[in-house]
Amino acid sequence: MEELILDKTQDETRQGEAYATTDLFQKKFERHFYIESYGCQMNFADSEVVASILQEAGFGPTRNVEDADLIFINTCSIREKAEQTVRKRLTNFKRLKRQKKSLLIGVLGCMAERLKSKFLEEEKLVDLVIGPDAYRSLPHLIEEAAGGQKAVNVLLSREETYADISPVRIDSNGISAFVSIMRGCNNMCSFCVVPFTRGRERSRDPQSIIQECEDLYKNGYREITLLGQNVDSYYYASSFESFPPITFANLLEKVAQISPELLVRFSTSHPKDISDEVLHTMAMHENICKYIHLPVQSGSSRVLQLMNRTYTREWYMAKVDRIRTLLPDCGISADIITGFCTEDEKDHQDTLSIMEYCKYDFSYMFIYSERPGTLAARRYADDVPEDIKKRRLEEIVSMQNKLSLESNQRDIGKSYKVLIEGDSKKNKEEWKARNSQNKVVVFPKENYTYKKGDFVTVKIADCTQGTLKGNIVAN
Ligand code: 5AD
Ligand code: SF4
Repeated sequence: MEELILDKTQDETRQGEAYATTDLFQKKFERHFYIESYGCQMNFADSEVVASILQEAGFGPTRNVEDADLIFINTCSIREKAEQTVRKRLTNFKRLKRQKKSLLIGVLGCMAERLKSKFLEEEKLVDLVIGPDAYRSLPHLIEEAAGGQKAVNVLLSREETYADISPVRIDSNGISAFVSIMRGCNNMCSFCVVPFTRGRERSRDPQSIIQECEDLYKNGYREITLLGQNVDSYYYASSFESFPPITFANLLEKVAQISPELLVRFSTSHPKDISDEVLHTMAMHENICKYIHLPVQSGSSRVLQLMNRTYTREWYMAKVDRIRTLLPDCGISADIITGFCTEDEKDHQDTLSIMEYCKYDFSYMFIYSERPGTLAARRYADDVPEDIKKRRLEEIVSMQNKLSLESNQRDIGKSYKVLIEGDSKKNKEEWKARNSQNKVVVFPKENYTYKKGDFVTVKIADCTQGTLKGNIVAN
């Protein structure tokens, strides 16, 4: 069995996506770029920033890789498998280059940062290598690469937040958008390569965030997800002393106040940073979705310490209790790593039992993958045999499947106000929507005149492990 990843956002690619905005399509450009994104939501949001910079420089998007003068691949380094996928894609692109000599191929994102000019020197697979904080230099680097020079910029920054750049909403459904509120990460979790590839944590100017959210709302968007590696540590102190500093709870409230018709979500929370202030703010505003993604990583205090997560099993469980007290109807999901260095059967049982205790609605589950340069790679041996890692992952996945089904069964008979995202994939006579708890809800359109982006109340009649099924409740 391959590594089982249940996360749509972490390891899934969406291809040739820089096409969406219709006006961009209608515009005529002489040169075209094609971009493919891998990894987390932050990477997809970054590709929208890149598309904006490229558009300013006179490049139009294309969906068809054969029509491109420039091919970009926005990469992820979180697990080895993600890097292998990118290498395979690059080998494919190299073939295109043989047919079209002027074609330029660029690597963006975390893998560019991790491998730096190695890409140009050793592998000769690419013409440009650009790290996550260097996208403003793209137009200049493209010119350099076109002139046959080596084009590399992997400088990390302590300030860059791309605050003034309006992302070009690529591959958008016109209803939901991601808004990046901070970059980088200061938590040195021992397994994680992110602090090395995305640099130090910095928060974006709140004014520019609110402006972006207001514009989205005016343009018909009805759901915004505030993004950061660790959103709860958002903190912005203005250089003007008369303006008080803005915390994540303050920011959340400001975005929620744009309109009650605008849903607000956020991701990702570190258990150590999510505060009562944030939970109270969530409770006060109906349009802040009652859903928290709260990565646990392991249920064993001993392993958590080796992971440098800074909390114990008991502390995490108390945090979940607190969420359930202040927000009784809150959905909770987790990230879990299985087979971390020295993990034994007792540790594994602790993970299974914490999952049961927390009753996760869903989880994203991964086999530990050693990443060069991380604290774990330097200090601990990756000593859990592959077959044991796989068996433990299977057990974790079965546990989650059971919990997801039970969670959905508890919703039968309840009514939810949901946001219509579009047609259900399986049946065009049905809508697909999402409730506040981030669960997918499908229901027959019947004779109602609802459309994408509308809110509607649905009573749940049935479910599977992954979906709630219901019917519209007449208003
Ligand atoms: N191996 C496996 N999973 C990892 N993650 C981060 N680093 C690794 C690694 N080296 C997982 C964590 C994190 C999610 C984004 O990816 O669970 O929360
Ligand atoms: Fe990686 Fe930990 Fe930062 Fe998440 S919080 S990005 S797991 S270092």
